[in-house]
Amino acid sequence: MPKEKGTFFITTPIYYPSDNLHIGHAYTTVAADALARYHRLRGEDVRFLTGTDEHGQKIERRARDAGLTPIRFVEPIVAGIKDLWGLLRIQEDDFLRTTQDRHRAVVAEVFRRIQAKGDIYLANYEGWYCTPCESFWPEGKLVAGNCPDCGRPVELAREESYFFRLSNYRDRLVAHLEEHPDFIQPPSRRAEMLSFLRSGLEDLCISRTSFRWGIPVPGNQAHVVYVWFDALANYLTGAGFLSDPMAFARYWPADVHLVGKEIVRFHAVIWPAMLMSLDLPLPRRVFGHGWLLFGADKMSKSKGNVIDPRSLITRYGVDPLRWYLLREIPFGADGSYTEDSFRRRINADLANDLGNLLHRTLGMVHRFVGGAVPAPSAPEPLAFLAEKTRAKVEVALDNLELSVACAAILDLVNDANLYIDRVAPWNLHKQKDPRLPNVLYSLLETIRLVGVLLSPFLVDTPARIWEQLGWTPTEPLTWAATTWGLLPPGGHLSTGHPIFPRLDDELEEEKKVGEAASDPTIPQIAIEEFAKVDLRVATVVAAEKVPKADRLLLLRVSLGNEERQIVSGIAQTYTAEDLIGKQVVLVANLKPAKFRGYESHGMLLAAGGSNGPVLLATSAPVEAGSRIK
Ligand code: MSP
Repeated sequence: MPKEKGTFFITTPIYYPSDNLHIGHAYTTVAADALARYHRLRGEDVRFLTGTDEHGQKIERRARDAGLTPIRFVEPIVAGIKDLWGLLRIQEDDFLRTTQDRHRAVVAEVFRRIQAKGDIYLANYEGWYCTPCESFWPEGKLVAGNCPDCGRPVELAREESYFFRLSNYRDRLVAHLEEHPDFIQPPSRRAEMLSFLRSGLEDLCISRTSFRWGIPVPGNQAHVVYVWFDALANYLTGAGFLSDPMAFARYWPADVHLVGKEIVRFHAVIWPAMLMSLDLPLPRRVFGHGWLLFGADKMSKSKGNVIDPRSLITRYGVDPLRWYLLREIPFGADGSYTEDSFRRRINADLANDLGNLLHRTLGMVHRFVGGAVPAPSAPEPLAFLAEKTRAKVEVALDNLELSVACAAILDLVNDANLYIDRVAPWNLHKQKDPRLPNVLYSLLETIRLVGVLLSPFLVDTPARIWEQLGWTPTEPLTWAATTWGLLPPGGHLSTGHPIFPRLDDELEEEKKVGEAASDPTIPQIAIEEFAKVDLRVATVVAAEKVPKADRLLLLRVSLGNEERQIVSGIAQTYTAEDLIGKQVVLVANLKPAKFRGYESHGMLLAAGGSNGPVLLATSAPVEAGSRIK
């Protein structure tokens, strides 16, 4: 049955609530949110599904280690995930938890139907299991005895299991991938999947008896359903399968399953085979995006190299984080996260290019035509460029090329900046050239339109831009607002204020030092690691303010037999005079760093007080240079 037109069903993976999520998970969810927002703007009836994958051996073990029942264990993590999506302004239509009754009913029914079809049989499984990946592996597929996906140790599983006749579907799967070149994207992932399928397909173990935390197999309570079989069915539950046939007819099949590249195999092989067995239509596209790396490694909790999106939001705001995630890395490729690339991206695109365009244009409208939107008189080249940009954004988003869409919008911003340089409105003004109002109008209109084009990606910025232009979109905003010429002449502009402050690397580093102590993602360390930190009591012998830096003080401290220069970000709480003679705690073996051109040979310890940093000190005077253990 063909799906109704004008609907768009998009999903993210449902995440394991085994730990707090990091920016890798935020990456997928923000991308899905941008696509959902875009399709809503286009007037489609969008269903955006995300959620949590709560069963399985990994969660059962983590809960046991924490001394909690699995459900008690996941509860606060799931609440934290919902909070995080709130902070990132994710507009999901449904947050599905696999522990919900509606989902348990679907999994049981899916199992029953596939069994009735003759595609499930009982046998003995003997092979390897990777608990972090929740994945079965035959001996021959292991790499140096470890999981071929994540490289971690596997465990022997030897138990009675139900099997799904996956092998029966190999030929149909190959045919489907061949006939639908868009089914698995990007093309490199499709090629991988085809070669995987051509190398043969074994039946899949779909139940476990060696632990309890899962959905019971209908008719055999000794077994719980394999967590991936359970999880994949979430896409049916979320579309209304069983519970809401009207919705299901409307939204199924999914238009896009967005997933990370490591789980394409589950979505390109197991999931379509399950749907074939159920006689249900297959999703239109599975897009396997790349990984956010930290250095050369995949960011992952177990490696302890994760970046917490919350701290980035607190420090920089939600739009800078969304922009970085969507713009920085070509969607599909891997990309390394660095704080440096983050700041460079925000400064270049948002503070400089976009901020300057707005600032310069508003300034000129105030200076040259009294601060009101002038009337347009003739088409300008920017109108043509704006139209071309809109078309580029549409094509890019249809192809899920999010970074290409973002880049196209920034190109328009830059074209407008170049246009200012070329047309030099200040000269037109001097020469009383009658083209001036039209030029200014086209700049203002370009800015308004850039705001509309940015609306799928950024959540606060568009409205902040329009406010300065004195424009209010008709509610709800639609993609029709990308039509040229909607800014009415005569409206009054605000005097303008920067929408994105430039991020100053040194200041940001200073702030980060203060935040690090409260960062919940800091991993546990052994005493030997702590012993590597050389902490000393030092006495401040001289102090002065660092010129033009609000937070920095330049100190000389004595360690008894040695004096050091330290730059410290404590000027909010202390004056130079406060500090002379004070004893402080110094990290003495920190690599030297430069702040505002001054070298700092160590760092003072301070608590992150709500009114600024508060220095640590000993409770009684001690000799300068004493070691702290
Ligand atoms: N529960 C399964 C998915 C079941 S879907 C039916 C799972 N969960 S997960 O918590 O491990 O999340 C994996 C997904 O999170 C990846 O596929 C990807 O979407 C996202 N990412 C997690 N780490 C990531 C990076 N370092 N980089 C990019 N995306 C990452 O697998």
